[in-house]
Amino acid sequence: MSDFKQTFNSSLGKKLIMALTGLFLCTFLIVHLGGNLLLFSKDGGFGFNVYANFLTHFPPVEVVAYLLYLSIIVHAVYALVLTIGNRKARPVKYASSNNSPASVSSKNMGLLGSILLVFIVIHMSDFWYKYKYTDTVAFKEYRTNLSSGITTVSDFTPTSKDFEHSVSTQGDEEVVRVKDIHTKVAASFGQLWYVIIYVIAMGALSFHLLHGFQSAFRTVGWIHRKYTPVIEFVGTWLFAVIIPLGFALMPLVYYFQSLSK
Ligand code: HEM
Repeated sequence: MSDFKQTFNSSLGKKLIMALTGLFLCTFLIVHLGGNLLLFSKDGGFGFNVYANFLTHFPPVEVVAYLLYLSIIVHAVYALVLTIGNRKARPVKYASSNNSPASVSSKNMGLLGSILLVFIVIHMSDFWYKYKYTDTVAFKEYRTNLSSGITTVSDFTPTSKDFEHSVSTQGDEEVVRVKDIHTKVAASFGQLWYVIIYVIAMGALSFHLLHGFQSAFRTVGWIHRKYTPVIEFVGTWLFAVIIPLGFALMPLVYYFQSLSK
């Protein structure tokens, strides 16, 4: 077996792959949260729908998206392989009385990761799959008056089954026709059970990242007197607090808005 193959088949090699795929997934979360913040702009879903259209139709982004799906699968499979390997090597658990949040996280990474995997399957089958592979998502037309900047929105029914999106200029108006995933998101977030699933999953995301982000840096050997406290700060405040809270606020805000309609 070559040195390369041997390294990646060893327990340390598998941990290294988990660390690298995990850090890649962390970067995705920042971008995804940033884009999804468009849900909070009161523009009839214009910004959010154009952003979702860009993600699914811009080839370089599509390539990164396939890397992302591969990373999710590799991260989950290697977690399972390592857990089974560890159980075989040490069937009796270590005795520990430390109940700090970081310790609770590190002891339950498998459970937290499994909750996240179930969440990702539900999430992708409801939004991503329906958006890309079914015709259950309707279209909207946004007309922006180029002199006043005012945008009006209406339903749009394409004449061809193959229609995906279009941008054109008619007189002094820019006309954008895109799939309306915003209405689908708003409908999902108008259901209490759906909101509860998202909030529980974001709790799991918080605890998973509280340990995972810092642990990934230790695995790749990035331990430094000066920089490790910075990594711990970013892992705690950005990845375990701001990002899960930001994602959880989306279903919560949409749910409470739907009650007042
Ligand atoms: C709670 C707020 C969230 C909203 C509103 C949301 C919305 C969406 C939508 C509309 C899509 C399909 C269209 C697109 O690719 O943009 C999508 C895709 C996806 N989401 Fe989310 N999402 C949320 C949270 C999350 C979280 C917390 C995760 C991971 C833990 C996640 C993982 C994914 C993945 C892996 C995809 C497929 C990515 C792609 O193909 O580009 N999402 N999301």
